Amino acid sequence: MKAGIIKDYGKQVEIQEVQAPILSEDSVMIEVHAASINPIDNIVKAGYMKEMLPITFPYIMGYDVSGVVTAIGSKVTKFKIGDEVFSRPNQMDSGSIAEFNVVKEEELALKPSKLSHEEAASMPLAGLTALQALTTKGKLTSGQKVLIHAGSGGVGTFAIQIAKHLGAEVAVTTSTSNFELVKSLGADIVIDYKTQKFEEELSDYDLVLDTMGGDILNKSFKILKKGGSIVSIKGQDTEELAKKYGVNFEVFFMWPSGEMLTYLGKLINDDVLKPIIDRSYNFDQVQEAYDYLQLGHAKGKVVIKIK
Ligand SMILES: NC(=O)c1ccc[n+]([C@@H]2O[C@H](COP(=O)([O-])OP(=O)(O)OC[C@H]3O[C@@H](n4cnc5c(N)ncnc54)[C@H](OP(=O)(O)O)[C@@H]3O)[C@@H](O)[C@H]2O)c1
Repeated sequence: MKAGIIKDYGKQVEIQEVQAPILSEDSVMIEVHAASINPIDNIVKAGYMKEMLPITFPYIMGYDVSGVVTAIGSKVTKFKIGDEVFSRPNQMDSGSIAEFNVVKEEELALKPSKLSHEEAASMPLAGLTALQALTTKGKLTSGQKVLIHAGSGGVGTFAIQIAKHLGAEVAVTTSTSNFELVKSLGADIVIDYKTQKFEEELSDYDLVLDTMGGDILNKSFKILKKGGSIVSIKGQDTEELAKKYGVNFEVFFMWPSGEMLTYLGKLINDDVLKPIIDRSYNFDQVQEAYDYLQLGHAKGKVVIKIK
């Protein structure tokens, strides 16, 4: 099959013929229609996660998939051949920027019927990250105030909508060109990170979803009420600051979950959530897509059309 692979750390993605992945008893084979890309791909590709996530070459890129089931393992009970599905496959199994992708049943969900494969492929990693950050980790509840950094990005565009659905008051940081987009998704307060200082404008917040780390994370402590929380998907350890401000702090990595993806699919079908796609690239333009994402200014998600 054809796949978008790297032959070593730091190399460009090439489309090459590789062996199709092997189906296991608890997995399904998906004919991939669309994939999407995430900043973590560029981090893995550059070799910055060598120790934590060792990979072998040629390595098939891509952690988001939407497609059609073409074969099922002997122990699979919830899916059948012909089902339209989407997933954030476990990254050690097989990459999604390929004609076929093997995904464990527990990481899979039925594609929401109203979404195209491109739209569905844009959701799993970023949508699950937003959901897990706000609910499992952040325990956000109705009436609380949350700040979402980079509300216009892949994670942020889902996070705004989920936070509003939970009944929270939502502030986001982004730049002026994205104000309309984030407001249309439900943001109540929008702060331009280029001209305003969020730490001077906001106070008494219950939760910050930190997508930036560094100085932005450090300054975020100032806007929390006592007992508030920062959930970071990017940050460095700041236990000292957490202690000083009397708040909770956690950095976490999202995890694949078919169950949570099914819940996101329900939010889609209920018109609570919609994916925002910035750009779609053809299969043979994968490296171009990664170069664009690397600039750090995507508005929503970047998708790869496979079939
Ligand atoms: N731990 C995990 O499990 C996990 C999961 C997913 C993502 N992540 C990490 O989370 C981060 C965000 O991911 P993503 O997919 O949302 O990234 P993304 O889509 O690339 O984010 C791009 C957005 O960030 C905005 N932005 C850039 N600089 C900003 C700043 N200083 N303040 C506010 N907004 C800013 C940009 O707006 P402008 O165009 O206006 O600049 C753009 O819309 C990445 O570092 C990623 O690696 C971690």
